[in-house]
Amino acid sequence: MDFKILGPIEVRAAHGKPIALGRRKQRVLLAALLLNVGRAIPSQRMLDWLWGERPPATAESNLYTYISALRRVLGAPSRIEAGSNGYVLRAAPGEIDVTRFEELAEQGRRALAEGRNDVALERLTRALGLWRGEAVLEGLPLPASLRGEAARLERLRASVVDAALEARLALGQHAEVLADLEALTRRDPLNERLRTQLMLALYRCGRRAEALAVYQEARETLAAELGVDPGPDLNRMHQRILADDPALAPPRTAATRRIFAPAELPIDSAAFTGRAAEITRLRAALTSAGPVAVHTITGAAGIGKSALAVHVAHQVAGGFPDGRLYVNLHGATPDARPLNPAGALARLLRSLGDDAAVPADVDEAAARFRSLTDGKHLLLLLDNARDAAQVRPLLPASPTCRVLITARRTLTSLDAVAHLRLGAMAEDEMLALLGRLVGEERVTAEPWAARAIARLCGGLPLAIGIAAARLIARPGLPLRVLADRLAVEDHRLSELQADDRAVRACFMVSYRGLDAEDSRMFRLLGLLGGADISVTAAAALAGRPEEQTAVLLDRLADVQLLEAREADRYRMHDLLRLFARERAEQEDGEDDRAQAARRARLLRNP
Ligand SMILES: Nc1ncnc2c1ncn2[C@@H]1O[C@H](COP(=O)(O)OP(=O)(O)OP(=O)(O)O)[C@@H](O)[C@H]1O
Ligand SMILES: [Mg+2]
Repeated sequence: MDFKILGPIEVRAAHGKPIALGRRKQRVLLAALLLNVGRAIPSQRMLDWLWGERPPATAESNLYTYISALRRVLGAPSRIEAGSNGYVLRAAPGEIDVTRFEELAEQGRRALAEGRNDVALERLTRALGLWRGEAVLEGLPLPASLRGEAARLERLRASVVDAALEARLALGQHAEVLADLEALTRRDPLNERLRTQLMLALYRCGRRAEALAVYQEARETLAAELGVDPGPDLNRMHQRILADDPALAPPRTAATRRIFAPAELPIDSAAFTGRAAEITRLRAALTSAGPVAVHTITGAAGIGKSALAVHVAHQVAGGFPDGRLYVNLHGATPDARPLNPAGALARLLRSLGDDAAVPADVDEAAARFRSLTDGKHLLLLLDNARDAAQVRPLLPASPTCRVLITARRTLTSLDAVAHLRLGAMAEDEMLALLGRLVGEERVTAEPWAARAIARLCGGLPLAIGIAAARLIARPGLPLRVLADRLAVEDHRLSELQADDRAVRACFMVSYRGLDAEDSRMFRLLGLLGGADISVTAAAALAGRPEEQTAVLLDRLADVQLLEAREADRYRMHDLLRLFARERAEQEDGEDDRAQAARRARLLRNP
């Protein structure tokens, strides 16, 4: 439920429908309870509020009638509890505009004190936006004892207006605040603080004489109305303007301090090819108002998760006017350590213009990130995540944000997330991609060899990219030569490296993350001849019971070194199988391998 008292009293049901609150005294009673939410009010005090010194004989029974009527319209008797000390209204902090206002005001003032002016301005503006009028419980006659609390809130509002003006001046918005300051000063001519800000704004706009005139007028008004002289702050501003104090100059960074919507997406691949169904699905998910805000793309190393995510993010960027944030979490980059959540949060906060010191405590930094993203239309791409623990603190809570995560591992422990599993690329798409990368002429000149290269790269765009890089480096090299080299299984992984990119290195990151048992299983699978693997075969190979083996295989599938097919059957990508065999040759003794090979042969020819 939504209780609003900053302005005329208003109560709305969870779905936004306004609730009729009944007679005037009944509304005063609800107002009194809201101003004292969570505190017990003795019924005697309520009688005083409603009827003053001389209550009629029916007052007490009328009070009960009002209470039960209120319970009824609020939909739950437990909203207004009767205890030995009186009645208590129960409401969650987020349900009452006052609590939200006080919270935002406090955050804003703290940010202002810390010099985080843009954050301050954002909070203070939102705090003021909660007011629907100038007075608390506007239009409702309140007894004097309740007026005190209302007046406190109204004073707090005035101080928030003041702080917001200060933040805007500090952000170099003197020209923009001028009209507001003039209007406020006209309404409140004795307010010296407003006059001081008005003088500063005029001075910064190059209107020095007018700034000095404001001082003279203030002086006369104060003398005429109160018979006093201007206070020290106003006098000091006057002196500083007379002396052209350099410290009064507009903030130097005024122009650059404007918050631009971050647009951090990496460049989209010009050669992006295929994946039509996945693109349609992701676009729909990211642009619909559906309840799922977090989407993941998982799949094997080098299969094209990041490329797809970046491509789609660019397509839907227009729907996120508050910005597109990008963080490479380096969950699987050869020779790089995964980014820790604290480091990632620090980056995200800076991207959002929060340049204050980032809290060392991850929870606190994450909370600040959630505040800054609240209500914003932001797209966040968390690329190459290592696991769920790494991304969990980085998720905005606001339903207006959308998050796209790529990871090799399936992030099943994240709540309320939609998963997309990205599989191998179709052979025709691989061929088309090769054409785009090396030029159509070379592909059409040797169609047969081009198709062989596409096939030997086994649906892995990373591999085709590397093969293409090698062909581009040697324009005279016939495609047939590369196809022949790739056809030799023992050479294939070595052929698939160019500059700093290598299929082997890309696989190695996942392999290095395995524990001893899992990595032994993986190596053994490389000794099997084909891509199809049954639990029975794997168990025989490892010399272990089937149940245990199934667990090992599932763990390998989790990190995408294996693909789970129908029950009890798995597949290993060709290039991964070659990699596994290579690891076995490097790491396992000849005896081990020979024995395993014997067991594997027995399987094939029992
Ligand atoms: N659909 C595509 N069209 C063109 N190029 C692609 C496509 N998909 C991937 N690539 C290219 O293939 C290479 C590997 O892709 P990408 O980095 O997206 O893989 P990944 O699945 O994110 O790998 P990792 O698990 O290592 O993060 C990149 O150079 C990328 O540009
Ligand atoms: Mg990636």
